[in-house]
Amino acid sequence: MYRFLTLSEAVFWLKEDEIVGLPTETVYGLAGRAESVIAVEKIYTAKKRSLSNPLIVHYSSVELALKNGIFCEQGKELVTQIWPGPLTVIVPKSSNSKVVSQAHCGLPSIALRVPHHPVMHTLLVQVGPLAAPSANPSGNLSPTTAEHVHLGFSGKIPVLDAGPCTIGVESTIIDLRQVPFSIVRPGYWTLERLEARFPKITFQEASSLDITTPGSLLKHYAPKKSLFLNITPPFEATMGIIGFGPGYQNIPKRQFVQLSETQNMEEVARNIFSALHYLDHRSPCASIGVVPIPEYGIGKAVNDRLAKAALKIHV
Ligand code: TXA
Ligand code: MG
Repeated sequence: MYRFLTLSEAVFWLKEDEIVGLPTETVYGLAGRAESVIAVEKIYTAKKRSLSNPLIVHYSSVELALKNGIFCEQGKELVTQIWPGPLTVIVPKSSNSKVVSQAHCGLPSIALRVPHHPVMHTLLVQVGPLAAPSANPSGNLSPTTAEHVHLGFSGKIPVLDAGPCTIGVESTIIDLRQVPFSIVRPGYWTLERLEARFPKITFQEASSLDITTPGSLLKHYAPKKSLFLNITPPFEATMGIIGFGPGYQNIPKRQFVQLSETQNMEEVARNIFSALHYLDHRSPCASIGVVPIPEYGIGKAVNDRLAKAALKIHV
């Protein structure tokens, strides 16, 4: 039986410049010290990640994150109010930052985040800034449980288990380098939430044509089985179905995942990756179908991940 890491073991290994699977409120991350070339290089190698796809650097406090980037006044106001939380921002890197250039692929910009997960926070306090992409081999589904990480890397990466992630989709990424600020990856902090909370700041959703995030055009998060979106009844007998709300009594139990009985979109987001992992690896279904998800609020983040998973773009 596999034994997950304790907190003090995770601290020990991180300080030794090893990489470790860690929980955040969004998805599990594959973390290494952001100020260590050795640790950062291990992340790229373990994930088989392109060396031109930069990592997010995580901090224990807003003050520390602010010191590592150059923020305009509005950008500072935004992060001061939202952090700690499921938000990543792209800013120019400050000249006194000790983050190694390999973490952001030598770019003048850097992606910063202050997560609010208590375990991750403790690790950041004890170890210092951590570079952490999602803890999946490149091209695989993002992990929302420690078991997903363990299985994704065939047991070769030590993992700290702190239960399932509460948000379930990766952080919203906002580019703060230009006004209006661009949302380059949708997440919990939706356009609607941001506009309501910050009426004086203008935001726009980046279209797929002007995406500046290097990783966002790659085929991401894909299950091994074929994935079909916007599926409606009658369902094919061999297809595993991901749905929410009532009306799925006739589907065999092992071929159906209920995302949210009460049609709560936050619950849908929390469960979407687990549902894909389950039908891909644990269910006898031949293919996977997902019912239409409303393109509103966090539903946009769910649809963004599903579209990437269904797209067969090989780069
Ligand atoms: O919720 C999350 O954000 C999780 C947890 C672990 O924090 N992390 C995560 O990392 O989703 P990753 O590497 O899977 O996605 C980060 C995205 C990538 O698409 C990367 O290209 C982009 O952020 N990114 C990182 N640094 C960037 C930069 N300097 N400029 C533009 N995009 C950047
Ligand atoms: Mg990822």
